[in-house]
Amino acid sequence: MVNLESGGTPVRRPTPRLTGAIGGQEPFSFEQIVGVSAPLREAIETARLVARAKLTTVLLVGETGTGKELFARGIHCGGANSAAPFVAVNCAAIPESLLESELFGHEAGAFTSAQARKHGLMELAGCGTLFLDEMHHLPPLLQPKLLRALEERRIRRLGGSTEINIECRIVAATNVAIEDSVEAGTFREDLFYRLNVLRVDIPPLRDRPEDLELLAHHFLQDVARAQGAREKGLAPDAVIALREHRWPGNVRELRNVIERAVVLSGDEPAIRAAHLLIQQRTARVATPPQGVTGTIAIPLGGKSLAEIEREAAQLTLQLTGGNRSRAARLLGISRPTLARILRDVVPLFGEIEEAS
Ligand SMILES: Nc1ncnc2c1ncn2[C@@H]1O[C@H](COP(=O)(O)OP(=O)(O)OP(=O)(O)O)[C@@H](O)[C@H]1O
Ligand SMILES: [Mg+2]
Repeated sequence: MVNLESGGTPVRRPTPRLTGAIGGQEPFSFEQIVGVSAPLREAIETARLVARAKLTTVLLVGETGTGKELFARGIHCGGANSAAPFVAVNCAAIPESLLESELFGHEAGAFTSAQARKHGLMELAGCGTLFLDEMHHLPPLLQPKLLRALEERRIRRLGGSTEINIECRIVAATNVAIEDSVEAGTFREDLFYRLNVLRVDIPPLRDRPEDLELLAHHFLQDVARAQGAREKGLAPDAVIALREHRWPGNVRELRNVIERAVVLSGDEPAIRAAHLLIQQRTARVATPPQGVTGTIAIPLGGKSLAEIEREAAQLTLQLTGGNRSRAARLLGISRPTLARILRDVVPLFGEIEEAS
């Protein structure tokens, strides 16, 4: 999209596909976050205070599927500038070469393909919120730039010399212990401390069993509403199976399991354990294999080092019963490195979890 600024300078807006902006004008409140457990209520209370305070930076930490994006939207909508834009950027999804100009913008001629001036997302968020998701993936080159922007509340577009004031609040989210990335040298310590000033830890679902049934009923209600059908119940064996499962994918996994169970239960009025398809997987996690050993076979045709690395990571993870921190320690690598090695591995539920 090309616009003209008042001075006649052509201006290119960031590509929506890359920014993943999620439209902040949709009203959202903390009331929509379901749960009664003490750790979740505590996280919501902190987030409420953060929303009302004039804080410029917040860090959300929680495993995948715990609701970080909901919290980010809650903080935005609970603040004084809820009518301003909410702009979401996934630091892992945008190539390094583009991320810098997406965030900070560029002037015409800043690089070969920069034909027009482009406003960065930090500018476009105005006095709203910039949600930096998967923050631990922020490339090392951009980390000092972000730190400077946070500290001085000013940026310069790529190729530009004018300082631009930054008004937006930055909500950063990460699903890994960012301290591990600092230890591994992939994340700057000074930026970590700057972000960590106000932090909201969102607890994993396995640590809040009180929320489990409540959430399951919430999703059953959602499905019933969407289908214009009667809400299904949960049979006692289904409740037991839900409680025994470890939920490595947290609330997102629960929502998917419930949606699938509704389909598989056909005309039955209640979901049974058999419809959840989690029992077998639960059992595997509940009894981590003792003293497992494994062999990495190298066929006659050979095997790439990357494949061997991945198999070694998987075997070690089996050995630790899915505990990634322990597996990383045994392998002598950082957790982020292990996560990178396992990135393309599609786990069976419960096999690979973020146990601490
Ligand atoms: N407490 C909750 N109440 C209702 N829905 C929830 C709750 N927590 C999470 N969800 C739902 O679970 C799904 C995952 O939540 P969300 O996308 O916010 O997680 P996330 O922490 O950002 O995950 P990821 O790290 O994988 O991006 C969404 O559909 C969200 O609406
Ligand atoms: Mg998210």
